[in-house]
Amino acid sequence: MHNELKTTDMQTLESNKKTTKESINSMSLNLPDFTTDSYKDAYSRINAIVIEGEQEAHDNYISIATLIPNELEELTKLARMEMKHKKGFTACGRNLGVEADMVFAKKFFSKLHGNFQIALEKGNLTTCLLIQAILIEAFAISAYNVYIRVADPFAKKITEGVVKDEYLHLNYGQEWLKENLSTCKEELMEANKVNLPLIKKMLDEVADDASVLAMDREELMEEFMIAYQDTLMEIGLDNREIARMAMAAIV
Ligand SMILES: [Fe+2]
Ligand SMILES: [Fe+2]
Repeated sequence: MHNELKTTDMQTLESNKKTTKESINSMSLNLPDFTTDSYKDAYSRINAIVIEGEQEAHDNYISIATLIPNELEELTKLARMEMKHKKGFTACGRNLGVEADMVFAKKFFSKLHGNFQIALEKGNLTTCLLIQAILIEAFAISAYNVYIRVADPFAKKITEGVVKDEYLHLNYGQEWLKENLSTCKEELMEANKVNLPLIKKMLDEVADDASVLAMDREELMEEFMIAYQDTLMEIGLDNREIARMAMAAIV
């Protein structure tokens, strides 16, 4: 009798300990429930944006190569990475049983896509690099860095691999602009004035769905500004120029 009680007490104690440990884990990680309809509904748009973004990135690097043919090999390598990313994120949606809303995503990118195409037709390489290798890459880096903290384990692993590549892509654009700064600064500033507000709008547009995925809007903005401003600094712009460029997001 005495022993029986002891065993039951021990079991209760163990089970309490386990419950406490689990709730502390989920509290400290603040992970959302990946199985709810509202999560899946928001995910159908966010996942589509990511998939479309990777496709756009692939197409853009292939297009940029037509403007710098001697960089064809390197740019093809970057484009191939983007297709791998697309496949990875497609698998993330499949894993959660979510169908990506690609119609929404195409519309989401349409304005930026259009601006890239116009710049490409005109042969405005600086604008193309700013849109893809700086703005889109910094946007991707911010979203992926925030997502990694609250993603399901499958998506987390994939996104961690992807974000490393995106830093390489950001670096590619950064190095080209740095080398050519004396001749491309004016176009860079102009292109930024037109396209940074679009990125800000896109961040605003995605904020509600992102918050369902436990991705914080402020954090997204912060991560974006860090990647964006660090890059501008590396390119060789001074504080005043960087501030002037960043202000375009507010106006
Ligand atoms: Fe990518
Ligand atoms: Fe990329």
